[in-house]
Amino acid sequence: MILGIETSCDETAVALLEENGQALVSLISSQVDLHTPYGGVVPELASRRHLEMLVPLIEEAFGRVDSGWIEVKAIAVTQGPGLVGALLVGLEFAKAVAIAYRLPLLGVNHLAGHVYATFLEFPQKLPAIALIVSGGHTELVLLDELERFHPLGTTRDDAAGETLDKIARFLGLPYPGGPEIQRLAAQGNPAFHRFPVGELDNPLDFSFSGLKTSVLTFAEAWRKEGRSLPLANLVASFQEAIVQALIRKTERAIDQTGIRQLIVCGGVAANHRLRQRMQELADRRNVTLQVPSPGLCTDNALMIARAGLANLQKGRFLSLREDADPNLSLFRLD
Ligand code: KG4
Ligand code: ZN
Repeated sequence: MILGIETSCDETAVALLEENGQALVSLISSQVDLHTPYGGVVPELASRRHLEMLVPLIEEAFGRVDSGWIEVKAIAVTQGPGLVGALLVGLEFAKAVAIAYRLPLLGVNHLAGHVYATFLEFPQKLPAIALIVSGGHTELVLLDELERFHPLGTTRDDAAGETLDKIARFLGLPYPGGPEIQRLAAQGNPAFHRFPVGELDNPLDFSFSGLKTSVLTFAEAWRKEGRSLPLANLVASFQEAIVQALIRKTERAIDQTGIRQLIVCGGVAANHRLRQRMQELADRRNVTLQVPSPGLCTDNALMIARAGLANLQKGRFLSLREDADPNLSLFRLD
């Protein structure tokens, strides 16, 4: 089996995956309690918690399948992108056990992990367009038949998840904001107010900072007038603006490339409204939509093990000399 390790941000996760792609165990230790008082992730606290949690989690994972290091064939670990200190904890741990047990090391790009989470539940049909929407990234990419990633569009400023989290924080909602926004939005009217989302030179690029400002300005204006904020309606309209921007660009990418496979992944892909609207888009454009279950959209280590399996099959190993890379690119030159 393959051991997957993910420590790029505020979740310590380990997983065991069979070599045939079958999931065995997935454990996630969330640090939400640790970072909630600060309204966001504190990097030093995140690293320290990863260090504390990694060994107990791996022992628990082995216990669940009544197994141990003897049955591990390779170690897949997130190399980047993410918080450098957090990444280092996972990567150095993985290197140490790789040396101790003479195991091959598989370096995984966290964003590739989000995409490969899809293939834990759906057949791998390529080429595909993938929309990766997470806390730190909003990327439209093409995954070709040789499993190479090509850029189509990216965000010029904030990521979709980051925008949800920032507005939630401004509105006094708990961290992380995305799930709270979804919950509140379900009680509101998405047509209450139409928030604009900017257009850019590259029609497949995203920009959410203007939307963020217009939500803040709108809320301030209501407060100045002494009116109580129609929170559910506001949040529903804001969520709708984000979803619509994601749909619009994805639809363009489908039209430009003519590709009939669509993957939507990353933490924000857990959002009900986005999933529903993406299905409508897929039906309208006659494309096959693959979205991982919500629990596989948010950070986990099964996705890292699954992307690691793809590297193993290609004989692509990580050298012990390689380091964590907080800005690791998805677009390799080879
Ligand atoms: O992929 P992920 O777990 O971590 C990163 O790689 O960043 O994504 C986390 C992001 C956060 O911004 C969080 O607010 C958002 O995903 N998120 C959601 C939902 N669940 C998580 N956003 C909208 N609706 C959700 N249900
Ligand atoms: Zn992620």
